[in-house]
Amino acid sequence: MCGIVGYIGKREAYPILIKGLHRLEYRGYDSAGIALIHEGNLKVYKAKGKVSELEQYAEQKDVSGTIGIAHTRWATHGEPTQHNAHPHYSQSEELAIIHNGIIENYSLLKEGLISEGYTFQSETDTEVLVQLIEFMKKSNGTDLSTAVQLALNQVVGAYAIAVLDRHNPDLIVAARKGSPLVIGIGEDEYFIGSDATPIIEYTNRVSYIGDEEIVTIERGAPLKIRTIGNIEKTPRFQKLEMTLNQLEKGGYPHFMLKEIFEQPHTLGDCMRGRVNVDADNITLAGFIDNRDKFLNARRIIITACGTSWHAAQIGMYAIEEYARIPVEVEYSSEFRYRKPVIHKDDIVIAISQSGETADTLAAVELAKKEGAFIFGICNVVGSSIPRNTHSGCYTHVGPEIGVASTKAFTAQVTVLTMLAILIGKEKGTISRDEYLTLIRELNLIPDKVGEILKKNDLIAQYAKTFTYAGNCIYLGRGYNFPVALEGALKLKEISYIHAEGYPAAEMKHGPIALISHEMPVIVIATQSDTYEKVTSNIQEIKARKGRIISVVTEGDKVVSELSDFSVAVPPTLPCLTPLLSVIPLQLLAYHIAVVKGCDVDQPRNLAKSVTVE
Ligand code: G6P
Repeated sequence: MCGIVGYIGKREAYPILIKGLHRLEYRGYDSAGIALIHEGNLKVYKAKGKVSELEQYAEQKDVSGTIGIAHTRWATHGEPTQHNAHPHYSQSEELAIIHNGIIENYSLLKEGLISEGYTFQSETDTEVLVQLIEFMKKSNGTDLSTAVQLALNQVVGAYAIAVLDRHNPDLIVAARKGSPLVIGIGEDEYFIGSDATPIIEYTNRVSYIGDEEIVTIERGAPLKIRTIGNIEKTPRFQKLEMTLNQLEKGGYPHFMLKEIFEQPHTLGDCMRGRVNVDADNITLAGFIDNRDKFLNARRIIITACGTSWHAAQIGMYAIEEYARIPVEVEYSSEFRYRKPVIHKDDIVIAISQSGETADTLAAVELAKKEGAFIFGICNVVGSSIPRNTHSGCYTHVGPEIGVASTKAFTAQVTVLTMLAILIGKEKGTISRDEYLTLIRELNLIPDKVGEILKKNDLIAQYAKTFTYAGNCIYLGRGYNFPVALEGALKLKEISYIHAEGYPAAEMKHGPIALISHEMPVIVIATQSDTYEKVTSNIQEIKARKGRIISVVTEGDKVVSELSDFSVAVPPTLPCLTPLLSVIPLQLLAYHIAVVKGCDVDQPRNLAKSVTVE
C-alpha cells in the first residue's frame, strides 16, 4: 500500500525524503508528494504518477528545510490525481498529513466537519483526518499530539500517519493502527518509514511503533510514545539486520530478475542452521519450542493471500503426506469473515512475505481469540504478523522489492516442507530412511535451482513467441497444481495477460473448450505418478491445435517431443518439485512482460504490501 517517509534533523530533508520514496515506491506508485517546513512556511508539492514526476515538478521549487514528510500513493478513496495525492493540508494550511490505510467512517466525520464550516479539496479519507485533527486542535486549544490523539479516538479504520504543524518546525507527530510504522534513530535526527528500507542507509537503530500508539518526534529530544487511550509507553529499540546492498538492483535490469536469480542463495539462507546434512537432521526453533502442540494438533489451518496462499497449498500437500495431520488452506479474507470453527487444539499457520497483509493479520487475531496456537511464516523481520503470533519461522530471504513475489514463495515452500518433515519425523509418520532422503534432497535444491537459471536465455527466446497471447492456461497435478496457479498469477500480475491455472485433469470439465491454435498452454509435466495422465492431457490439447510449453524432468522424451517448447528441470522428490518447476514459470512471465514493455517491478494497480482490506 502507500509508502510514508519522514525526516527531522540537521540535514536537508528533501534528498532524504525523495530517496526514501524511491525505496518505498514498490508499495504504491500512482502519485507522490512531499511537505517541508522552512522559515515559517509549510510547503506541499505533489504530482500524479511516479516519484520521478514529483522530482521533476519540484525541480524549480524551493525544497529547503530540515523537517519533512513524504508519501507515495496506492489509491483507495479518490482517483490517482494531483489533488488526491498526499500530503493533504488542513483548512488553514497550518497542518499537513500523510496517511497509509483507510478511514472507514470518513463520510460521517466529513459531514460533521462540513457542518463546522470545513471545505474539502480532495475526495480522500485522509483529508478528512487532517481536518479533524485541526478541528480538535483549535476547538480544544491543545498541542498537536493531543489533537491527533483526540481525532484518532473518533476514527474507525487503519492508518499509519505523520503530521506536520507549520507553527512547530521541530515536531512530527506520527501514529499507527493496522498499518506499519518504524522510526529510525540517528544522531540528533529521526527517520520515519512504512518499513525500514528508507532508513537503513542512515541508521540501523529502529523502533517499531505498536498498534494504537502515537509517537512524538521532537528535534533534540527523546521519542515519546503514548497510546490512543493515553497510556505512556517506553520506546523499544532494535537493531536492523538488513543491508543496503539488498535494496539495490546489483546490475540486473529489474528487481524481479535479481530476486529470481538470488534464489540459490536465498534458499540456502532459509535452510541455514535448519537443514544439517552432516548431522542428518532438521531443526526449527519455532517447532522445538512447541513440539507437543504440533504433535497433538487435531488440524492445521493455513491462512494467506496471493502468492503466499499458493505456497500454503503446497504446504498442505506436504504436511498431509508426511505429518498425516489434516490441513485446510483458507484465503485470509474469507477466513476472517466466515465464522470458521476453530478448536483450541488447532494450529493456525499464517503465511505472509510482508508480515503486514491486513486480511492475514485479521485472520491471526480471529484465530487467537478462538484460542488456537498461531505460527507465522513471514519474511520481514519485526513486521506485524510475527509480532502477533505465538511462534513462527522467518524465511530469511532479505527484502523482496519486485511486486510479483518470487524468492519469498520458494522460501515459504521450503519452510513448510521442513515443518512437514520435522513433524513427520517426531510423530513417527515417516521412516528414518525417508527422513534422511528428504534432508539430502532438500539440501541439493539450491544448486538445482542454479542449474535451471542457466536456461534463462532459452526461456527469454520462447517468451518472444508468446507475447501475442491474450489468454494462457497453466496445468499441473499434485504438488505441481499450486505451481500452475502461481505461474498463472505471475503472468497476470506483470504482463496483464489473462491466465488461469487448473489441475490438469480438470481441463476436460470446461477449460478444454478454450483450446485453439491461439491458446498457449503451459503444462508442468515432471516425472511423477501422474506423468502418463498428464501426457494424455497434452495429447488432448495437441489434438485441438493448442500450443504447448512444458516443464519436464531432465531426460524426458515423450512430453518434450509433443511440446512446442520445453524446459527441463533436474530430478528431485515430488514434494520438492515445486521449488524447481516454478523457476521457469517465473522467468517466462518475466520475459513476456519485458518484451511487452510492461513495468515489471511496479505493475499497474498492484502493491507489494496490502495493508488495507
Ligand atoms: C499482494 C502482493 C502479492 C502477495 C500478496 C500477499 O497482493 O502483490 O505478491 O502475494 O499481497 O502478500 P504477503 O505479504 O501477505 O505475502
